[in-house]
Amino acid sequence: MITIISTTNRKDSLTEKLSNYYASILKSKNIETKIIKLLDLPKDSLFSILYDNNDKNSEFNKIKKIIKDSEKIVFIIPEYNGSFPGVLKVFIDGLSWPSELKNKKCALIGISSGPQGCALGLSHFTDILHYVGANILSLKLKFSGIKNTDIKYIIENKNYIKALNDQIDKFLEF
Ligand SMILES: Cc1cc2nc3c(=O)[nH]c(=O)nc-3n(C[C@H](O)[C@H](O)[C@H](O)COP(=O)(O)O)c2cc1C
Repeated sequence: MITIISTTNRKDSLTEKLSNYYASILKSKNIETKIIKLLDLPKDSLFSILYDNNDKNSEFNKIKKIIKDSEKIVFIIPEYNGSFPGVLKVFIDGLSWPSELKNKKCALIGISSGPQGCALGLSHFTDILHYVGANILSLKLKFSGIKNTDIKYIIENKNYIKALNDQIDKFLEF
């Protein structure tokens, strides 16, 4: 099973729309796919899933189990203030130690309205994934200059569709 994580808790985000689209491509290839939206984390996650509360939040434990049961994980990451969203670090810190991500195979996609396609955020997040023992596909996609949160600006762009399909082909072999 491949799990896609929409790594923002912003409502109506482009990240969520791209996560749904990525899932539709995987499903069209008959691959069992799940989506975790960080928008659906328990609302009090900042206090209820960390430190002494680790493992005590039954709602978050279900999410941990999905990660544990996944063979591969795709992170779709918007650029927020030059890096990845803070809620993604809360999510990582809320996992167990050793992390449920240990030895998982991961693929990363960055998106931004500015020129970087979350390049720095992908690098920051790569360091963290390596620290927790995950393996990352070297082909990381960076979609930049997307000023509008309408998914058509991605799915009507032939270059983006080709890049997504190339990454998926490589990720399935990974
Ligand atoms: C809190 C916040 C910070 C952002 N910071 C940046 C940034 O540093 N650079 C950039 O190019 N875009 C930035 N953006 C725009 C998003 O990266 C862009 O809209 C992205 O394509 C999709 O974000 P979304 O999934 O929240 O819709 C920011 C957006 C938000 C909500």
